[in-house]
Amino acid sequence: MTELSLRTERLVLRPFVPADAPRVRELIGAWVVTRMLARVPYPYPPGLAEDWISKHTAQRAAGENFPFAVTVHNRLIGCVGLHEEPDRGQIVLGYWIAAAHWGLGYATEAARAVLEFGFGWLGLAGIGAQYYEENQASGRVLAKLGFVETGRGMHPCLARNAEVPGVDLELTRDFWIAKQV
Ligand SMILES: CC(C)(COP(=O)(O)OP(=O)(O)OC[C@H]1O[C@@H](n2cnc3c(N)ncnc32)[C@H](O)[C@@H]1OP(=O)(O)O)[C@@H](O)C(=O)NCCC(=O)NCCS
Repeated sequence: MTELSLRTERLVLRPFVPADAPRVRELIGAWVVTRMLARVPYPYPPGLAEDWISKHTAQRAAGENFPFAVTVHNRLIGCVGLHEEPDRGQIVLGYWIAAAHWGLGYATEAARAVLEFGFGWLGLAGIGAQYYEENQASGRVLAKLGFVETGRGMHPCLARNAEVPGVDLELTRDFWIAKQV
């Protein structure tokens, strides 16, 4: 299970490996990506991607973090995963796609596979998500997946060193299953 990969029509979602670190830094370190994420510093420091990847195996084993490298023709273009959000006592969906690959449906396609993994393999009853109100593309991804808004509030953003208006959402397994039929 710890080294599980997922396949969709166009994508392979696989565990990150140490050799991905330089490309992770290049892609997630772009301001247009970093600024929409809660806990990623900007500028993205050397060594952080290596450190982040080195923790994945233990985090998966502990059930805390299930990050998947999103690849097209063996090329890393982003990350979609599930991770524990201690503040919310919930597993949440997180994702980013390199700007050069936006608007092609990749985030939605990858997230569908990861939700299937969460509800099926992990047996979760519900999965949370959050996005900044200004991030209409992310709101659209979550709406396409069937997420339902549960509240709004100020959400931290490390890259901006600020609190940003955000939206909280949830998708239950029952709703997910009903939508698939
Ligand atoms: C959000 C993000 C993952 C979307 O990736 P993507 O692969 O382009 O997403 P998809 O193509 O699957 O879907 C995007 C949807 O948003 C829509 N969209 C894009 N920009 C939009 C905008 N400014 N306003 C409204 N809708 C928009 C697209 O038209 C598409 O919807 P459609 O299929 O109905 O046409 C990507 O923009 C990203 O990585 N952004 C930076 C990091 C980030 O925001 N992560 C999520 C944090 S909550």
